[in-house]
Amino acid sequence: MDERAVPAPPARLGVAVIGMGWMGSVHARCYRLLPQRFPELGIGPQMVVCADSVEARAQEGAARAGFERATTDWREAIADPQVDVVHVATQNALHAPVALAAIAAGKHVFCEKPVGRRPAETAAIAAAARAAGIVSGVGYNYRWAPVVQYALGLVRAGRLGTITHFRGRFLVGYARDPHGVLSWRFDREQSGGGAVADLMSHVADLAHALAGPVERLVANRHTFIAERPLPVPGEGTHFTVKRGGPLGPVTNEDYGSALVRFACGAQGTYEVCRIINGPKCQLAFEVSGTGGTIRWDFERMNELQLYLPDGTPERDGPVWVQAGPEHPFFANFNPGPALAMGYEDLKVIEAAQFAKSVIDGKQGEPGLAEADRVAQVLAAFDRSVDSGAWETVTPISGAA
Ligand SMILES: NC(=O)c1ccc[n+]([C@@H]2O[C@H](COP(=O)([O-])OP(=O)(O)OC[C@H]3O[C@@H](n4cnc5c(N)ncnc54)[C@H](O)[C@@H]3O)[C@@H](O)[C@H]2O)c1
Repeated sequence: MDERAVPAPPARLGVAVIGMGWMGSVHARCYRLLPQRFPELGIGPQMVVCADSVEARAQEGAARAGFERATTDWREAIADPQVDVVHVATQNALHAPVALAAIAAGKHVFCEKPVGRRPAETAAIAAAARAAGIVSGVGYNYRWAPVVQYALGLVRAGRLGTITHFRGRFLVGYARDPHGVLSWRFDREQSGGGAVADLMSHVADLAHALAGPVERLVANRHTFIAERPLPVPGEGTHFTVKRGGPLGPVTNEDYGSALVRFACGAQGTYEVCRIINGPKCQLAFEVSGTGGTIRWDFERMNELQLYLPDGTPERDGPVWVQAGPEHPFFANFNPGPALAMGYEDLKVIEAAQFAKSVIDGKQGEPGLAEADRVAQVLAAFDRSVDSGAWETVTPISGAA
């Protein structure tokens, strides 16, 4: 008799992706890569169904990502008994109806940020998930960069001492051309907030992870480009540029900033913009404590600047750390240091960690609880813009 151990069959996980635009396609692709990049998890995703209201996108997405079928009806996808996890990757206006229906059907939910259009919608989705006891995940993917994970480890281990400062920014130019089309991102009804919901949600999540809860803030926002060309329905992305044709109004902000005071006593700033010239995808933070400083910028995702003085004045200064197999998750992608990882690799890590939390039945971070914390900060941001004063961050009560 052959006594060699027979490997256990992979744990099946039935996947549905709703919205097969940019992000939905990324989520689907990352599930396909999960067994190759994270074989040790023993998870076998079954690509059950994808949904998009544009039939060609649903069909093409299904063919590319290997879904068993495609549909234009997201309700039907959620109802499929083969589906265990529902990924919500539509424009923000559909996050609440899709996520709430999936939660009501007992499915585990991964929702793209900013989750709800408005903080109250996010809070309502988080409350429903909590009540139903499902496992959730949220697309705060920048946390998963190996050197960011390393930074989180250093902070949690107390290597930075007491945190005194946090400066976070997300400066991008995707909307800097006034001929960039009026996609759903510029429409308050479809998107909710503009740069604040889209970009500051990432900054606020990183800030929470690195400096803890925010106590108070005072905020400012601005719209630089008031009108944009109307897009062709069902075509293009928010990077599409169109000259000529009718214009429509931009109904949310291009820019947002805030002075922030953290509960731990740290002081900070958040700044986000979608029309800036120069930075392309500059999600960056600097966190300082009584023991040192860490700096990171997504535009140089595989590097981290670390200042941990050791009492040797003649070589006092920051050092650059390059990502390598000694940092979390890096070895799942490359065997040697400085072999650069990219954006989609973070989404593979994200999918793997979410799938693991579902299979283990153990809620991980970041999930809807973390999105709820971010929503509380963004709600205080909105109140501060209206009042022109410092506002306290408080739990959000009531339905969306
Ligand atoms: N985490 C990140 O780094 C990141 C990056 C980009 C986008 N996002 C988020 O992902 C989400 C999607 O953004 P995107 O850039 O992929 O948008 P997108 O416009 O490219 O894709 C949205 C898709 O939803 C489809 N859709 C619209 N109505 C639908 C319906 N009724 N049923 C099914 N599908 C429908 C659209 O046809 C489109 O294909 C947003 O919430 C956005 O904030 C996150």
